[in-house]
Amino acid sequence: MAIVSSQESSKPEGSKGQSHSQTAPVARPLSQANSQEVASLLQPVAVDEERLEKSDDKLRPQRFHDYIGQRELKEVLNIAIQATKSRQEALDHLLLYGPPGLGKTTISLILAAELGVNCKVTSAPALERPRDIVGLLVNLQPRDILFIDEIHRLSRMTEELLYPAMEDFRLDITIGKGQSARIRSLALQPFTLVGATTRVGALTSPLRDRFGFVQRLRFYEPEELGRIVWRTAEILKTQITQEAAEEVARRARGTPRIANRLLKRVRDYAEVKARGEITQRIAKEALELFNVDPCGLDWTDRRLLTVMIEHYNGGPVGLDAIAAATGEDAQTIEEVYEPYLMQIGYLNRTPRGRVATPAAWRHLGYQPPDEQLGLLVDST
Ligand code: ADE
Repeated sequence: MAIVSSQESSKPEGSKGQSHSQTAPVARPLSQANSQEVASLLQPVAVDEERLEKSDDKLRPQRFHDYIGQRELKEVLNIAIQATKSRQEALDHLLLYGPPGLGKTTISLILAAELGVNCKVTSAPALERPRDIVGLLVNLQPRDILFIDEIHRLSRMTEELLYPAMEDFRLDITIGKGQSARIRSLALQPFTLVGATTRVGALTSPLRDRFGFVQRLRFYEPEELGRIVWRTAEILKTQITQEAAEEVARRARGTPRIANRLLKRVRDYAEVKARGEITQRIAKEALELFNVDPCGLDWTDRRLLTVMIEHYNGGPVGLDAIAAATGEDAQTIEEVYEPYLMQIGYLNRTPRGRVATPAAWRHLGYQPPDEQLGLLVDST
């Protein structure tokens, strides 16, 4: 399997003679382009910032048998892989959703490895102009995977170009303007679109409906994260005890990316303070220094909950009010912070707003209102 960054240029497909053209009744223009522009649309273009952090590459599992966690998702995908391989077809389009850091990109790369095809990795913000997506699509080899991160952020024109591409492996490009506008259709190789999003509700339904699989990634169990930390430590050639791996795992918010990041910081600390070996004591000391508490909450999590408790008596309070009071971005609160706080039972979303639960009050050293009432009743 080759991982092809979409910055990389490869030969345009036109030379293979598979594209055909036809005229069709004038439809609503998807992209306005004259004849010369069509040719330039088909050239590969640099559309992406480097999406894959090189330093993480060696930590990523390469195949499903190395991949820890997401058992049900792996089962679904393994069946699909076997079936499509025996039919020699492209895998059906797949939408992966869930909080950041749970492995959406990794799964896409593994899928490509299992299928023996290339994976082109890009993100919706890099596909602003129609030519960006056209350049990628026409250069796909049969059954390749095109991975689009943050797919809920696609521009409308790009999204509309994707509909026939996903459904019929066809690109419809509008040539000319007004009365003389014509649609030119180009055949594409069968391919698989893997879309990733933290906000599945923000996808338009025509786009969502074109995915054959819509799969959620869930937070990892501490035991699974412990194994991930152990595996990463081995790759990094770092000595770590079982208890220390579990300590890092417990504070990693159910998220492999965070587990690996914490492990790297703890490794630095151990190298400076303890000749490299990570014991539970060293892990605890380091994580305290980095402000990650025993539940994995960082400074921002604690600030969000504290503001809810101190300013709004625990809520209900609207997301925008929390954002204004803390100076955090509302979307970041919603997509990055809240999912884990809800997962561990510290925050509820209600129709009237966010509510900090009694467990959150206690964790931060406050007495929940119900218990305060209990004390008052007891004392009378
Ligand atoms: N590294 C990051 N995520 C992983 C996973 N799910 N399994 C194994 N190693 C990982």
